[in-house]
Amino acid sequence: MNDTNEMQLGNRSLDWIDDTVVMVDQTKLPGELTTLRIDTVDDMVAAIKRLSVRGAPAIGVAGAFGVAVAVRAHGTSGPELDSAIAALAHARPTAVNLAKMVERVTPLASQGFDVVLAEAMAIRDEELAASIAMGNLGADLIAELCGDQPVTAMTICNTGGLATVERGTALAVIQTLHERGQLTEALPCETRPLLQGARLTTWELQRMGAPHRLIVDSAGPALLSRGHAQVVLTGADRVAANGDSANKIGTFSLALAARYAGVPFLIVAPESTVDAATASGADIEIEDRGSEEVVAFGERATAPDGTDTLNPAFDVTPAELITAIVTDKRVVRHDQGQTLATHPA
Ligand code: MRU
Repeated sequence: MNDTNEMQLGNRSLDWIDDTVVMVDQTKLPGELTTLRIDTVDDMVAAIKRLSVRGAPAIGVAGAFGVAVAVRAHGTSGPELDSAIAALAHARPTAVNLAKMVERVTPLASQGFDVVLAEAMAIRDEELAASIAMGNLGADLIAELCGDQPVTAMTICNTGGLATVERGTALAVIQTLHERGQLTEALPCETRPLLQGARLTTWELQRMGAPHRLIVDSAGPALLSRGHAQVVLTGADRVAANGDSANKIGTFSLALAARYAGVPFLIVAPESTVDAATASGADIEIEDRGSEEVVAFGERATAPDGTDTLNPAFDVTPAELITAIVTDKRVVRHDQGQTLATHPA
């Protein structure tokens, strides 16, 4: 990593530095910690699509910074600006944060670059504060649900600082548990096919010094049924109005297994991921990422040439399997009959 960028980014996954967007290139981790400087909308869209920046809150911040880049390049209105903004909003479909944050800053375009950038910075700061709040609320809830004894927490995908700006969502709760001496260990699932759990979550757990053991995705349900974890917690890409929650493929299997094993299953996501305009999980568009990442592992083929695939990147966990939704502003206890509607933020 370029020393200057590293120092300026600190523990953040992305930021606005020296008049441009700087982000950790997550495709290179864990082997290499490198940064990208993103000066154009095309580069931002490409970075979002190939998952150099990923995770719902992080792509929301990236999208908002992207609109600032677009206004700088194309001015305060016009067809070029409109198509740049549309490309940003549609770079990935499932995480609501991306389109939502692009929509939040777009009306400010007419007031110029500085105003758009200031709002994008405000979004970044809100996500930073949200991560701290979710960590505390989630750790308090786990103490209430599981008692004061340290717990083993299972999780999937990457929900740490890389997926937000700093600290994270579900992984922020795990970090807070660790800081409070309430974590026995974390069990991150590897997260096929792009291995966000193996590549990124273990890297973040190592950096925070939290005990953990990596598990293959298919071991999750079996380990839960044998009492290896006391809680499952994941992030979300979109929480529908009825509490159904889209998250990385494999989350639904963990929620089913957690219910079977009598283990609490928690969704941890900021209010920016709650989508009141989407009634239920059935209305959430699930990104299909095509064959390439399923039939090969890096350069090596893992299926014969010509193999057809289905590759949904996300699944939807129905609200009834979710013990509680923890946001930065509220804890909605489905297990006590509460809903997002009865407990507004
Ligand atoms: O495809 P990804 O890596 O962007 O998927 C990310 C997830 O599924 C995360 O769990 C989700 O965005 C919540 S992260 C704070």
